[in-house]
Amino acid sequence: MTDRTEAMSPLELYESLMAQGDKVRALKTAKADKTEIDAAVQLLLKLKVDYKQVTGQDYKAGSPPSESSVVHDNGPAADGADDEDTVDPWNVSTTNAKGVDYDKLIVRFGSSKIDKELVDRIEKVAGQKPHRFLRRGIFFSHRDMHQVLDAYEKNKSFYLYTGRGPSSEAMHVGHLIPFIFTKWLQDVFDIPLVIQMTDDEKYLWKDLTLEDCHRFAVENAKDIIACGFDVNKTFIFSDLDYMGSSREFYTNVVKIQKHVTFNQVKGIFGFTDSDCIGKISFPAIQAAPSFSNSFPQIFGGRKDIPCLIPCAIDQDPYFRMTRDVAPRIGYPKPALLHSTFFPALQGAQTKMSASDPNSSIFLTDTPKQIKNKVNKHAFSGGKDTVDEHRKYGGNPDVDVSFMYLTFFLEDDEQLEKIRQDYTSGALLTGELKKLLIETLQPMIAEHQERRKQVTDEMVKQFMTPRPLNFNC
Ligand code: TRP
Repeated sequence: MTDRTEAMSPLELYESLMAQGDKVRALKTAKADKTEIDAAVQLLLKLKVDYKQVTGQDYKAGSPPSESSVVHDNGPAADGADDEDTVDPWNVSTTNAKGVDYDKLIVRFGSSKIDKELVDRIEKVAGQKPHRFLRRGIFFSHRDMHQVLDAYEKNKSFYLYTGRGPSSEAMHVGHLIPFIFTKWLQDVFDIPLVIQMTDDEKYLWKDLTLEDCHRFAVENAKDIIACGFDVNKTFIFSDLDYMGSSREFYTNVVKIQKHVTFNQVKGIFGFTDSDCIGKISFPAIQAAPSFSNSFPQIFGGRKDIPCLIPCAIDQDPYFRMTRDVAPRIGYPKPALLHSTFFPALQGAQTKMSASDPNSSIFLTDTPKQIKNKVNKHAFSGGKDTVDEHRKYGGNPDVDVSFMYLTFFLEDDEQLEKIRQDYTSGALLTGELKKLLIETLQPMIAEHQERRKQVTDEMVKQFMTPRPLNFNC
């Protein structure tokens, strides 16, 4: 792509294509000079190639690009050469120590910022102080949240959908972020929740057996249940179990499959000719729970109950596709709330990953392990010596211990005081780490205690298709 067209959004490219098409026709009609016509045709062809690269779709005059036509690799950013952020369902990385530039991501993905006005509105409608994840911009982006609130204010209820890819038994604190927030949403809005465990997805993408993936789904479900979900309002399902048992769910999967082309998923997810066909059709399976009639036992066959999906921003490609296909199969588009990533201990250039034990605080870690990992691995924004630190102060914007405190420390005033003291140099790195350790240790110990209380019988109950408390 040239510098000029790579900066264009799908819509801008589409408009240039329409204009260039008109120009070629005009030149031909006017029987213009052959070299002039050739040059115009060359540019038209080039624009078509660029359009396909950016949207994954062929250009068709009269049909503008759809919502899911967003660069799958987030490749060359429109606004600067320094942009090295990669964000998709399988990779998250940036060269910036402060982490991914989330404002740019909103522009690139075409979502909306969760601004103060929306946070205030959620507070008003829910009648509760907004969760710290909202107060602190950890859930930072959304699609159609205002519509969900409009409907809720008119006594039209909605349901929540989130999920987890069970790739191992070991879950880390970062995995809890969407669940902690979803639990809050369930409590304040008093609505049903479905949680998809994509054991099929992990089998398709990783070198794991189906048996292991299914076992991880059940094990992970225990950690999820330990977050405090209400069994009367929550259905947790393994795809391997539920897909085959629910005619309605599979019917929706097939409908979605019929209305999304290989070209489209290539554009959205970057699949290639050598990816197995399981991967290519999987996005339909992650899309299906966004439609209420996939769960007749809960919604009595109704297809019009709005769905709200809290998830990390890397899952957005699935739901861009879902929102694109929804009106074509007669369903409402799901709304979304997107979170930032939970940074790795080594720094915000990448997210916490269970496959790198030194990057993660696991839900099974002992107090001593937590202390050692934070002290040894948590990237510090402090200065090299105490003298220098006292003199120049630390940088909380790149400091992982401080970032973790923004996720887990409830008290806003205390957090602000820590930020100021660290920035001024009054608070040393060792002291900051101690504050984090003292926050994480009881939090994880309490999680472990709650998880111990989760019996096999309870897991079975959560994972059995059944009616939930729901008044629409
Ligand atoms: N694909 C997700 C993962 O790997 C799991 C998932 C399925 C999910 N459905 C979801 C996550 C809905 C968030 C919302 O973790």
